[in-house]
Formats: sequence, structure tokens, C-alpha cells
Amino acid sequence: MTESYLWWRDGVIYQIYPRSFMDSNGDGIGDLRGIISKLDYVASLGVDAIWLSPINVSPMRDFGYDVADYENIDPSFGTMQDFELMLSEAHQRGLKIMLDLVINHTSDQHAWFKESRSSRDNPKADWYIWKDQIPNNWAGAFGGSGWQWDEKRKQFYFHAFLKEQPDLNWRNADARRALMDVMRYWFSKGVDGFRLDVVNAYYKDAQFRSNPRPFSLNPFKLGSPFLAQTHLYDRDQPELHDAYREMRSITDSYPERAMLGEMLGDDPTRLTRYTDHDQLHLIYSPAPTETAWRPDHFHKLISAWDAATASNPEARVCYLLSNHDRPRHVSRYGNDSLAMQRAKVAAMLLFTLRGTPSIYMGEEIAMPDAKLSRSELQDPASKTYYPFYNRDGARTPMQWAPLPHAGFTNGKPWLRVGETYQTINVANQNEYPDSVLNFYRALMRFRKGSLALRRGAFSMIEQKSRDVLMYQRKIGDRRLVIALNFFAREAVAQLPKGKWKRVFPTRIGGDTVEGALRLTPFEASIYEESDH
Ligand code: GLC
Ligand code: CA
Repeated sequence: MTESYLWWRDGVIYQIYPRSFMDSNGDGIGDLRGIISKLDYVASLGVDAIWLSPINVSPMRDFGYDVADYENIDPSFGTMQDFELMLSEAHQRGLKIMLDLVINHTSDQHAWFKESRSSRDNPKADWYIWKDQIPNNWAGAFGGSGWQWDEKRKQFYFHAFLKEQPDLNWRNADARRALMDVMRYWFSKGVDGFRLDVVNAYYKDAQFRSNPRPFSLNPFKLGSPFLAQTHLYDRDQPELHDAYREMRSITDSYPERAMLGEMLGDDPTRLTRYTDHDQLHLIYSPAPTETAWRPDHFHKLISAWDAATASNPEARVCYLLSNHDRPRHVSRYGNDSLAMQRAKVAAMLLFTLRGTPSIYMGEEIAMPDAKLSRSELQDPASKTYYPFYNRDGARTPMQWAPLPHAGFTNGKPWLRVGETYQTINVANQNEYPDSVLNFYRALMRFRKGSLALRRGAFSMIEQKSRDVLMYQRKIGDRRLVIALNFFAREAVAQLPKGKWKRVFPTRIGGDTVEGALRLTPFEASIYEESDH
């Protein structure tokens, strides 16, 4: 096993939602110059790469996930000069930049769609998915049918998300070529990689068959045709593999670039087939963001993903607990007086799994969701599904300091700052050695120095206690054991055979332990086999 370090395989990704990170000009919207002003902070965390949610020109119906021009920057975020400055400033600090590439669909304001809808025989007529009649039951993830009538063309087009986000037709070679050119365009500028939005939805069934709709009394499924369907025909089509191979060969023609695919669905066996030496470098599924704070639930999730990945040494999974699409995990796990301690256990879990961790801006200070009322919501999907599904709570401005608007802007923020900002903010947590922020930093430092954590094999260590999760990471003859107590009471865990010494948090002059291990409430520690 070589000790080579690849940023996407060995490193940590930090997701920035640009609209809410830092506003440089007082218009209440985060921007690229704001990001530049906070790059020292990002570098201070010890992360390797930044994933930027979309910054392309967009009418912002889905806040950037509806792109109207792939090769320019939306004016609300700044200019191309700002972008180039950000890229070089990031590179100077050893940070890679990954752009969010949203090429399952465009905005209905994209020139391609305007042309496509203008007639049935224009050069781009076939770049989107047009039908005379609604051919099947495919639904839009944000509510209602996936098929939308277009008055101009007098046909229906398909959209997997909002009706303002028409799906591209990946079976059209010209459209595909144009999308590959977008990748080349940004790689040539020096961008290090892409986070590929809903990457397993690019292709749809060639025969347009209806999805099965299993009987269910689940109220969420009754309320949403999208959730009620088994997505057999509107995603995960066999043609994807060749598309990924083409994208991989483009990516590999530039040095040290990588692709991280966002997957719809939660079946690890199906999804890990998309990550390989000639397909995607990394994939992530939303499954960890939907797992309850229970050792048995994580046990099941992690074991399934690890088993699916283990059969392919080239496969690599990215794990994340929070992103811009779900309530933050601090809030999901119970936002009470114990939230900070729970956040540390969750961080230990995230940074010690076999995979690439991705953290979402603000999670490093255990920022909870803001409690927004319905009238404060901006996101159309959150408005539709309120109060069951709300993405805006996780999208409020980054809490920098106990200053007006949390130090995010001098103006009026586009989305209200969370009510916790006076106490939960970067400035406060910088001061305290025991803060969640400094815990994240220390953990990332430890991980960087540990080949076993970055590259080692994974195995569960079964426990009697239902409060504990314990697993091993092993490389060569070095073994680490990670012990997590999920709850606020003491617990007993059983170490594997051998003598163990705690290495994180470091215990000065600590003794070795064997056998039973007493865990304090919310203990999250790493032990190393001691005769090495
Ligand atoms: C992805 C994004 C989400 C967006 C959707 C449509 O799931 O993460 O924010 O709304 O795709 O592009
Ligand atoms: Ca701004």
C-alpha cells in the first residue's frame, strides 16, 4: 500500500452554499468575494477541497440548480474575474475547488431550451425530452406530474424537478457533446473537480415505461407521487456507465481532477457500481442524512455500504451527514442542551469511516437549523412540502460572530439568520479549546496523519451494549478501534483481543487497556493497538 495522498480519496471536502456563506457588498447575498475573504478560515479547518453549490447564471428558481448559462457566473455572486481570483487564492492555500455541475436539466431560461421549445424542427429540437402525449406516470421530485405542457411547441416536456428545470435528453449526441464541452471549459480554467447533481438520473428508459407504484399507506407516499413510485425507469439506466466512462476520460486528461456524483436512492449495491477506476471517483447517497441517531441504524447503514464497496478496491464512497437539501444533523438528532456533545460523536463517526468525508458549512460549529415560519421560506420545494420537508432551515447565513446578522452581511440577508447566532458562531468557538470547531480541527489533523483512517480496511466490532458503536480500521499490522457512545449515560464496550491505548483524544502517559472499556457519556475516542 503506497502512502500517496490524493485529495479526493484521502482528504475532506467542505461544502459551501455560496448564497449564505459571506456577503462582501451588502446586498444580503453571499458572493465570491465573500468566499475569498473567508478562505483563511476554511484553510484553518484542515479540509482539502471546497465544493461550491452552483454559481452559474441562473434565474434562481431552485437557487442555482437551474442553470441558464454554464460558462458564466451569476452576477449576484460576482464576475469571472472574481471567480478566477477565488480559484487562485484557494490554490495558494492548498484548497481544491469543485464546482456543482447540474447537467441532468437546465433552466427553462437557458438558450438551449428557448431554442428547443421554439419549434419541432429546430437544431436543438431533440435536446430535451418532448412528447405529444403524456407517456407515463413519471413524477417531479418537487410535486406533481413530471410532464409539462408547452404552449409554444404544443407538446409536453419532462422535468424531474421544477417545471422550470426541463430535463436534457442525454440520448441526443449533440446535447451530450455540448455538456462534455462544459466540463472541459472549467477544467481548462483550473477547476479541480465537479460535484455532479443527480448523476444517476441523466438517462431515462428508452421505452418510457411507467414506474411501479407499490401499495402503501405511508402518508408521505400518499401525498407525493414521486415518493410513492419505485424509480425503475426514470433513473439508473444501463447507458449511464458509458456516459461516466466518457466523463472519466475527459477528467483524466487533466491532472488530479475528480468527480463526485450525487446519487438518488439508497441501495448501496446498485450505487457503488458507478464508482470505479473508469467511472466516477466518488459517489454519495442521501441515506446517511436520513439515518436516525441510533447505533443500530448506523450499524446497518455503514455495514451495507462497506460490504458493497469492499468488493471493488477502486470504489470510493463519500459520506456526509448534512448538506443543503436536508435539515442539519444537529437539529435532526435533537437540538437540545446535549447537541454540542452529540455533534462531536457524529464528527468522530464521519471522519473515521472508510470513505471521503464531506462537511456542510456551519456543521463545524454545530449550527442548528433556523426555525423559519412558512412565510419566511424561499425554496419552492420547501413551500410545497412544509412542514414535512424544509431545506431553507439549513440554508440560513453562516454564523460568523455575535454581530448584527451574525457578521454575514451589512445589509438585509436574503434568508433570516438563525436565532442561535449570539452563542453559536465561529468567533466564540475559536476561543474555546473544547469547542466543536476545535474538535473538528483536531480530528481532521489526526485523520490526515493516520494512514489507517484514510486508507485502512473497515470492520464492525459487534457489541452487547445498544448505546455503543465500535469498529476497526486496519492497514498492514496497524489497527485502530473507534469507540462511540451515542448517549448521555455511561456504557461498556468490549475491545477486541489485545492491548489498546487511547490516541484520540490524547491521554498523556495513558495506560493500556484490555477487554471491557468503560465509556463516559458521549465518549468518542480512538484506540490504537499498543505493541506497535
Ligand atoms: C439535487 C440538489 C438539490 C436540487 C436538485 C435539482 O438534489 O442537491 O438542491 O434542488 O438536485 O437540481
Ligand atoms: Ca453580495
